[in-house]
Amino acid sequence: MNSQGRISPGTAAEERSCPWLNIWVFLIFVLPIKAALVTICLVALLDGSYGPYKTLLQNSTEWYCVPSSSAEKVNGWTCCPKGWRRFQGNCYFLSPDTMSWSESAQNCTGMGSQLVVITSKAEQEFLFNLIKEKVTNSYETKYYIGLAAYKNGWQWVDQTPYENTATFWKPGEPNLLFAEKCAAIHVKGKGDPNTYSNWNNVLCITSCYRICEQAVKLL
Ligand SMILES: *[C@@H]1O[C@H](CO)[C@@H](O)[C@H](O)[C@H]1NC(C)=O
Ligand SMILES: *[C@@H]1O[C@H](CO)[C@@H](O)[C@H](O)[C@H]1NC(C)=O
Repeated sequence: MNSQGRISPGTAAEERSCPWLNIWVFLIFVLPIKAALVTICLVALLDGSYGPYKTLLQNSTEWYCVPSSSAEKVNGWTCCPKGWRRFQGNCYFLSPDTMSWSESAQNCTGMGSQLVVITSKAEQEFLFNLIKEKVTNSYETKYYIGLAAYKNGWQWVDQTPYENTATFWKPGEPNLLFAEKCAAIHVKGKGDPNTYSNWNNVLCITSCYRICEQAVKLL
């Protein structure tokens, strides 16, 4: 009896502590597991409905997406790599560093883009204003575009026929064609008024900034 009497309170105490134990077990083990399950489900759901993101993310590029406008005639998202600027179905990158024309072309290609091919007055205006945002002085700042001279004349990097596109050369340019075979937009500071006449040809080894272009990604 005595021994039973000693045991009983102990047993009762254990029984009383059991609900508490359960709550702690629940909190410590079950809740995190539930949270993990919910997370896995959400990830699976998102993965299912936004498949293309996965492909985009595989390229270790961060993408910035906005809902497609009605002008783009698609439902979904219009995406540019983070830090690129969007204009009429394309994304544009203004480099922070300078290099030769062929290195510039390679750098753009390496980022899944190309040196910019300017095909409209609107695009020229957009790019000129974009450069003006960046320039900090009134010296001539040069940005390579995807236009270079070969034996058979000027050629865009994507084979867009040069004859069919509007050009925005400075008056008197291009000149010295025997030596200066690469085209760049020249901008003289934030106040430069020459929106439609600022292309010049330079030696292709000149170290210039560059503009890369790629089509927006539609998701
Ligand atoms: C990812 O990069 C590869 C190779 O650079 C390219 O072929 C592919 O189109 C890219 N995918 C996307 C979604 O940009
Ligand atoms: C291209 O240039 C940018 C800016 O300097 C740099 O971040 C990037 O790594 C370069 N990419 C390639 C493929 O050269």
